[in-house]
Amino acid sequence: MSEPTEEGLPRQVTVVEVGPRDGLQTEPALVPTEAKVAFVEALADAGLPVVEVTSFVSPSAVPKLADAEEVLRRVKRRSGVRYPVLVPNIRGLDRALAAGADAIAIFASATEAFSQANLRGSIDETFERFEPIAQRARSDGLWLRGYISVAFHCPYSGPVHPTAVRAVAHRLFDLGCNELAIADTVGAAMPTEVDALLDDLLTIVPVDRLALHFHDTGGMALENVEAGLRAGVRIFDSSAGGLGGCPFAPGAPGNLATETLVSYLEARDIQTGVDIDRIIPAVVALRAAATHPAPA
Ligand code: COA
Ligand code: ZN
Repeated sequence: MSEPTEEGLPRQVTVVEVGPRDGLQTEPALVPTEAKVAFVEALADAGLPVVEVTSFVSPSAVPKLADAEEVLRRVKRRSGVRYPVLVPNIRGLDRALAAGADAIAIFASATEAFSQANLRGSIDETFERFEPIAQRARSDGLWLRGYISVAFHCPYSGPVHPTAVRAVAHRLFDLGCNELAIADTVGAAMPTEVDALLDDLLTIVPVDRLALHFHDTGGMALENVEAGLRAGVRIFDSSAGGLGGCPFAPGAPGNLATETLVSYLEARDIQTGVDIDRIIPAVVALRAAATHPAPA
């Protein structure tokens, strides 16, 4: 690993692009499949090492991603880039594998209330669904990411204690996740909360396997990234154009924008390999292809 920056921060960071999934799942406009494919390809061309492509969830839960198979099949993959997809259950995994997935993400919740709202099951029930997925991931050599939603604040049950997050992290890690992504789904975390959670989590998860996923709803995303960097975290999620949020988290627009994250990191002398000048055109092309349904 290279020397830290003058400020003692990591010299290199992996930016995980989640716009095509986290962004487009809530985008009100209709985005043609072709434009989604072009968006994913443009982001990989811009140097993003990981581009989360879509979700193989129930189309009634997330209608905007009902074309998951077609999108994943049609994306021309660049070598060296990882293209994970979300799967909530074995049905989703079968669909993802049939469409050629080799990297998948499962998503657990830190709170029972959010688990019910997002996954229609208790935390224990969702882990029963994850077990066969993880087994298959291990036997087929799939890359496996485990998300923890609402790791700081839950829109239904309020502030989330680090102990609850640690318990879920432990279970995801036991399933064999290559990486854990700690998500501030509603964008309400404060840097002191990031410090407190990382203090706790880094006692059980190696720092190079921990990713932070911030939304900028409360305007603190970059401060939270900074707290993560100071704790040594080197993987951060973001969404090109700041697209998105989570449809099951009321009042959660605005993922941290990839261009904002990358320019912030560059200004701190931290390398990402991302060409920021290629991000905006990718978003502009996506928006140009989108059509807005007439109001009812
Ligand atoms: N792919 C496609 N369809 C699926 C599916 C999958 N992975 N899983 C379930 N379905 C379908 C079922 O066939 C059924 O369809 P029907 O109503 O036409 O019969 C319907 O979805 C309900 O299935 P069921 O097994 O009863 O699931 P559920 O209603 O308990 O929902 C989830 C559980 C997890 C499948 C659903 O809540 C979901 O997909 N959530 C995703 C949430 C999400 O993506 N959030 C954004 C990330 S923050
Ligand atoms: Zn998100």
